[in-house]
Amino acid sequence: MAIEALKDAPQEVTRTQFERQRLRSKGALYLFRRYTPFWWRRAIYTPFLMALDGMDFVLGRQKELVPPRYLDFAGHNRFLEAGQEYVEYLRDLCGLQPQDRVLDIGCGIGRVGVALTKYLTTGSYEGMDVVPSGIRWAQQHVTPKYPRFHFQVADIYNKMYNPSGRFKSAEYTFPFSDGEFDVVFLISVFTHLLPDDFEHYVAEISRVLRPGGKCLFSAFLLDDEARRGMAAGKSAFDFKYKLSGCWTSDPATPETAVAFEESTIAPMLKRHSLIADPTRFGAWSGRSDYFSYGDIVTSTKASSVKG
Ligand SMILES: C[S@@+](CC[C@H](N)C(=O)[O-])C[C@H]1O[C@@H](n2cnc3c(N)ncnc32)[C@H](O)[C@@H]1O
Repeated sequence: MAIEALKDAPQEVTRTQFERQRLRSKGALYLFRRYTPFWWRRAIYTPFLMALDGMDFVLGRQKELVPPRYLDFAGHNRFLEAGQEYVEYLRDLCGLQPQDRVLDIGCGIGRVGVALTKYLTTGSYEGMDVVPSGIRWAQQHVTPKYPRFHFQVADIYNKMYNPSGRFKSAEYTFPFSDGEFDVVFLISVFTHLLPDDFEHYVAEISRVLRPGGKCLFSAFLLDDEARRGMAAGKSAFDFKYKLSGCWTSDPATPETAVAFEESTIAPMLKRHSLIADPTRFGAWSGRSDYFSYGDIVTSTKASSVKG
């Protein structure tokens, strides 16, 4: 059983994320999530989350640079530990150095940014997201303490997260110069973008990366084993609805969870001068041998672009 295998895993964060998502993907919770828009659900949960925040306050359990639950729209489990896990990936898989300049696209409320404050001792960080409330919290709490850490809103449409956004992802130019960054990463962002948006973002990532710079992203990628996991009911998502160039678990709001064919990723990255490493498959599909929760893709910007 996949969950048994996960119990022995060192990555507690991965295991709990997998179990929580599996719970949400079945029965009444699935129906509630499928038929209640994301921000309505947040509004329904808010009084309960505020009560938990109040308890943390009374019991002195609040931690520095951890946002209150009611503001954390990404619903983070273990905010600090999970942020740290991704810092380790960036360090070990992308060779991130303390002096690097880093871009976090879809930074949410700054989970990885907060963890990076301990590591980027002389480097700098830019976080960008489509949800203003998370960016506001990070600007008010992280930047004053760490002035080399900046956060900004990109007013981009996403049916789930920002249904009133002005710009389309597929037409958005990142507000940064060519070759400005050593490392660009996106955690659980391409899991919410449709194919044209995905490819345009890859082109923009390649533009803002210096030659030799690294990109890391998480995604849900389908190969034979992931498909077997879904067919056997072991996975945290069932990507059974096929759209053009991707699959979703929710046809009404496809951005809720989007999966791509694994074999198309490296060629797509290559079209934009990014040379991919072999995919590190994640636990989401119920496989017993995994690296993280989502599938992790790393790539390097080619030093010279061939025509
Ligand atoms: C699951 S959350 C992950 C947040 C953050 N990366 C983290 O790991 O804590 C997905 C994030 O993607 C952001 N997002 C959705 N569409 C986006 C887009 N087109 N451009 C940038 N960010 C986007 C959402 O607002 C949300 O913060």
